[in-house]
Amino acid sequence: MIKIAPSILSADFTRLEEEVRSIERAGADLIHVDVMDGHFVPNITVGVPIVASLKRKTKLPLDVHLMIDNPERFITPFANAGADIITFHIEATSAPEEVLRKIGASRIRGGISLNPETTLTSVFPLLDSIDMVLIMSVNPGFAGQKFISNTIGRIKQLRQVLSEKKLNVDIEIDGGINQKNAKEVIAAGANILVAGTAIFGKAERKRAIELLRGG
Ligand code: DX5
Ligand code: ZN
Repeated sequence: MIKIAPSILSADFTRLEEEVRSIERAGADLIHVDVMDGHFVPNITVGVPIVASLKRKTKLPLDVHLMIDNPERFITPFANAGADIITFHIEATSAPEEVLRKIGASRIRGGISLNPETTLTSVFPLLDSIDMVLIMSVNPGFAGQKFISNTIGRIKQLRQVLSEKKLNVDIEIDGGINQKNAKEVIAAGANILVAGTAIFGKAERKRAIELLRGG
């Protein structure tokens, strides 16, 4: 089953509750929260208080994407605030096992994200210990960028490795996903699609989500 995770980075933050209601009604499966620290990426977005506020307003799982240096420091606070899945970047820590231990201790799901330039093999030794791989299809930092086309080959390669190892790990794709390229991304083996602009930028959000899902 394909899951759609609207990224609230493209929502109107002055009306965040209404924006969340609108994507719930439109059939979203997860809420993707992009956390940026101004160090790991050249942008700053939201943090723990927003996750805690969202938790009080929605039953949808909160898919927290940490684009921050030294993510180990922030696993427990985000988990306590209500994150259901926490994804951190392999490039942002020298101790991914420690981050995964903290995620495990918080009894939530854990994912590892890879930047477009990062070799896929860097995640292979950790595939047994994670629930999801998030492959970035843009350089992280901003919504509204163009999908990097060699991502398709990376998705296929990872799906192949996961099938060989018989691992039930989600593949989430993030960045520049739209109603035109979603089909190819799904065919390559991704099962969770993040979209900011292609959902919040549309008036007909239900239709936007159906089209992303392949409807
Ligand atoms: C980029 C973020 C994405 C981004 C998606 O750094 O991780 O989640 O906001 O936005 P679109 O779909 O507009 O590329
Ligand atoms: Zn993201």
